[in-house]
Amino acid sequence: MATNVLVIYYSSYGHTARMAQSVAEGARGAEPDVEVRVVRIPELEEARRAMSTQEWYVKAQEAHADIPEATLDDLRWADGIIWGMPTRFGNMSAQVKQFIDTAGGLWANGELEDKATGIFTSSATIHGGQETTVITGLVPLLHLGMIFVGTPYGQNPQILTTDGIGGSPYGPGTLAGNDGSRQPEERELTTARNLGSRVAKVARRLKSLRATQEHGQQPDAPQYEGQ
Ligand SMILES: Cc1cc2nc3c(=O)[nH]c(=O)nc-3n(C[C@H](O)[C@H](O)[C@H](O)COP(=O)(O)O)c2cc1C
Repeated sequence: MATNVLVIYYSSYGHTARMAQSVAEGARGAEPDVEVRVVRIPELEEARRAMSTQEWYVKAQEAHADIPEATLDDLRWADGIIWGMPTRFGNMSAQVKQFIDTAGGLWANGELEDKATGIFTSSATIHGGQETTVITGLVPLLHLGMIFVGTPYGQNPQILTTDGIGGSPYGPGTLAGNDGSRQPEERELTTARNLGSRVAKVARRLKSLRATQEHGQQPDAPQYEGQ
């Protein structure tokens, strides 16, 4: 039974887009039979108008133009959903919130309940919203009934540091820098891969449990390294 993992993100300048690729890489390698889909949340017209004179914005948009735009059917397809949301004033960007706000029908039918979820982010500075964006981003996901997966220190020793890097036990993050010139570094990408892997594993177990409840099947036995 395949496990479907959706990596869904918004990105103005490419940092969250880069993190999304590592999250997807981690999910793909996590378990046998994991299918991964990477999609981008559509731009808001007002934001496009405001940023279209910025060279970095235009280049980043061109670079991920071939990533398919997210639809609600992607959310339905997924067993695990991992959201990439860059910080805006310590909170998720409006593009992500706008997309989530179109999911009222899925909420009403409980279609996302019991699906595994996680969040990764990008902020300009260390204290600009690395943690608050994930924590506040979690609120609507809990309304939708999803089961949150973080990136604990034990599995992510790279974030147990006083160095100026992104990422926390709540989820991976990168720092773009005040002028947007900093790019995700290896430790941040490692945390991103680990979230992808962990969500895929949890999603697989939850799907297996649901199948057991619905059809009386045996749940998949957990598989560990070396098996
Ligand atoms: C309107 C606006 C608000 C922002 N607010 C914050 C903020 O509160 N803290 C911060 O560290 N960065 C802030 N930033 C910087 C963005 O988080 C940064 O550009 C983004 O993480 C880069 O990711 P991306 O390349 O995927 O777009 C803000 C940017 C914009 C445009």
